[in-house]
Amino acid sequence: MITRREFLKQSGLLATAWCLPLGAPNALVPGVEDESREVVPRPSITASSIANFVDPLPIPPLARPVDERPDPFDQGRRIAYYRIEMSEIFAKLHRDLPPARLWAYNGTSPGPMFEARKGSPLLVEWVNALPKAHLFAVDHHIHGAEASKPNVRAVVHLHGAKVRPDSDGDPEDWYVPGKSRTSYYPNGQDAAMLWYHDHALGITRLNVYAGLFGAYIVRDEAERALNLPSGKYEVPLILCDRKIDSRGQLFYPASPMFHAPWISEFYGTAVLVNGKLLPYLAVEPRQYRFRVVNVSNSRFFSLSLSNQEPFTQIGSDQGLMRSPLMVTPVIVAPAERADLVLDFAAHQGKQIVLSDVSGSLMQFRVDNSRAANSVALPATLRRIKPLPPKSAIRTRTLTLDQYNDPAGKVMRMLLNGTHWDMPITERPVLGSIEMWRFVNLTPDPHPIHLHLVRFQILERREFDVAAYQKSKEVHFTGPPMRPDPNEAGWKDTVRCPPKTITRIIARFEGFTGRYVWHCHVLEHEDNEMMRPYEVLAGPSPARKRPGAKRR
Ligand code: C2O
Ligand code: CU
Ligand code: CU
Repeated sequence: MITRREFLKQSGLLATAWCLPLGAPNALVPGVEDESREVVPRPSITASSIANFVDPLPIPPLARPVDERPDPFDQGRRIAYYRIEMSEIFAKLHRDLPPARLWAYNGTSPGPMFEARKGSPLLVEWVNALPKAHLFAVDHHIHGAEASKPNVRAVVHLHGAKVRPDSDGDPEDWYVPGKSRTSYYPNGQDAAMLWYHDHALGITRLNVYAGLFGAYIVRDEAERALNLPSGKYEVPLILCDRKIDSRGQLFYPASPMFHAPWISEFYGTAVLVNGKLLPYLAVEPRQYRFRVVNVSNSRFFSLSLSNQEPFTQIGSDQGLMRSPLMVTPVIVAPAERADLVLDFAAHQGKQIVLSDVSGSLMQFRVDNSRAANSVALPATLRRIKPLPPKSAIRTRTLTLDQYNDPAGKVMRMLLNGTHWDMPITERPVLGSIEMWRFVNLTPDPHPIHLHLVRFQILERREFDVAAYQKSKEVHFTGPPMRPDPNEAGWKDTVRCPPKTITRIIARFEGFTGRYVWHCHVLEHEDNEMMRPYEVLAGPSPARKRPGAKRR
């Protein structure tokens, strides 16, 4: 029997200073028998309870178009058409475990990897062929996941992509099994590693946890000219933490504190890399490029190598940085990406472990072949023009909040004190530059993500939270801090530390219409730490014409 304290620790609840009574009722939702809703969880596999590095690292298959279709926005041109089906599968997470029940895109989790070329649009029909019952308990207290809604709903969002609102995967655009929806991805953006994942309102954390995520790489000429390691020397590393029981099944813990299976954050005890637990990758003694994305619900990874060598980081969320940087550890918050170059040339016959503070993630096994000559990376990877703060036509101050529901049952995480359903308050004008200041009033860091746009981080600065709560006035308690060197490129997700105001600047370009911004801790996002925003059309040139008559 597990103690309450151990349980809280395992579910990550002890680590966070939630202002909730520990004696809160422990009851479950009535009528719930499913094992995934147990208050007392199954013990979860850890790196020390299972053989390490026995499975080769899986490489997600490449997505292949099934057809061509006319480009809906450019008559006369035909573009690639993909059809990707979401379904339930069974797949082994480890050699010594029975196959796990997962949700997958085209039969694999992670789903197939897209390779897109800048300027070549493509169409993807996302087919919902999921079963009628959810893999995990759906908490009907969560906004958007009420009992009146179907438990199984899905909608795909391409994270980091500049797409029209109707292809963006708005959380309310979910659809049920048997339905499909086609998205148009223009790929009118610089080379970067994007990723696709489920975004259905109120159950994103469960759908992504079940396995609905995959990589999407945009390539362009500028990047190709740099001759970075490619082909089998360029490897995606898709990281997520999970709880896995002795039968090899994923489970998602229930909250011991509320009348509902919502937990404020999820921390697993095992990490999957490309869908495998503690895999190894056989490598040659040469340079490799690793495209890392953190698809965890809540965990921030802090990556390091067992030989103490730093990583050479060449890119982040929205593509290459100005120049290569030596970094260790590399911190990757949920949804962030890190583009890393590792050179194994001096490590013939060696084994190097990639670790996080939570333990080992995977092993590189360098073979004994002759070491390839290491090519020096270009000193300049990309030109990135800083957006000057004075170019912003507007500054928005937006708080990151956590509250208890008045009924005391469910804690809520909000943005700027507003619920998802309240009228839109952020309406930047197309083409304009704005500064957004995230005022974190909570005791936790939040990775904040904006759809549609890429941005630059200007600074972070500590402030007095209590004073702000009293008077809404900002009293800084520390000096402004520049973003980390590896955050100085184009970003789409920014870590907002507690007691800190984080300032970003973005040009709202691309399309008009409704998008969303949110915390990418999926438990927070699902419980209303997400807001719609709308890009408005600018004044049309006709209306600006001097002397034009008003009627
Ligand atoms: Cu990774 Cu709203 O998304
Ligand atoms: Cu996104
Ligand atoms: Cu958050």
